Amino acid sequence: MAMVLDKVVPFGRSMDEYIKIFNLTDADLNKKILGIGDGPASFNAEMTRQGKSVVSVDPLYQFSGDEILQRFNEVVDNIISQVKATSKDWVWSYHKSPDDLRHNRVKVIKEFLSDYENGKKSNRYIVDEFPKLEFKDQEFDIALCSHLLFLYSDHLDYNFHLNSVGEMLRIAKEIRIFPLITLMWKHSQHLDEIVKYYTSMGYKIDIENVEYELQPGGNKMLKITRDV
Ligand SMILES: C[S@@+](CC[C@H](N)C(=O)[O-])C[C@H]1O[C@@H](n2cnc3c(N)ncnc32)[C@H](O)[C@@H]1O
Repeated sequence: MAMVLDKVVPFGRSMDEYIKIFNLTDADLNKKILGIGDGPASFNAEMTRQGKSVVSVDPLYQFSGDEILQRFNEVVDNIISQVKATSKDWVWSYHKSPDDLRHNRVKVIKEFLSDYENGKKSNRYIVDEFPKLEFKDQEFDIALCSHLLFLYSDHLDYNFHLNSVGEMLRIAKEIRIFPLITLMWKHSQHLDEIVKYYTSMGYKIDIENVEYELQPGGNKMLKITRDV
């Protein structure tokens, strides 16, 4: 499980963003949730503070909080400059500007770090990675994956997607993945085949519109449930 921190952009999203990204209802938030590739999102920290149940998995958690923060500080200015240079192309409905985006990402990582050591001790931040995870069958009600599958379609192949989605379905009764476009803002080349495959396997597939959008066209979420 070697991960090179120099290759990682540890940007995370808040609980409010997760709620909008995944169309999570109050009833959903009271379920047992697994977040895969949660990175430095503050979803787990904020949910735990409200007495809810979330476990996060990410190879990033092999690093200390100081190391993750140092990497964040190394990359944040460069990334925000790149966004500023292309700001007309992004959707500023949730984050109001590149500076607002930076402010929100700093707030999120601080929130994450304030919870990280405690969360590691109570097994809420677990070092593990797709395509195979160390959880029991149907251990969770919902498994979430934000900004990893489909987004990195140009780097992670079809089999990786097929196996990772299969693993999510093994572990949870319902899974949700966002966004469905790539880093190049194109419809993921793996999506249609994944939908076809799991439809043929008897799962119920929904592609839902969500109100969150930052990358243009990145406002759709895949939900797969057992069709029973
Ligand atoms: C763009 S970040 C998204 C973080 C968080 N889900 C969010 O939306 O705020 C992608 C995350 O996926 C993690 N990751 C990379 N490869 C992974 C794998 N094979 N399995 C699980 N997580 C992985 C990275 O370490 C990183 O934290």
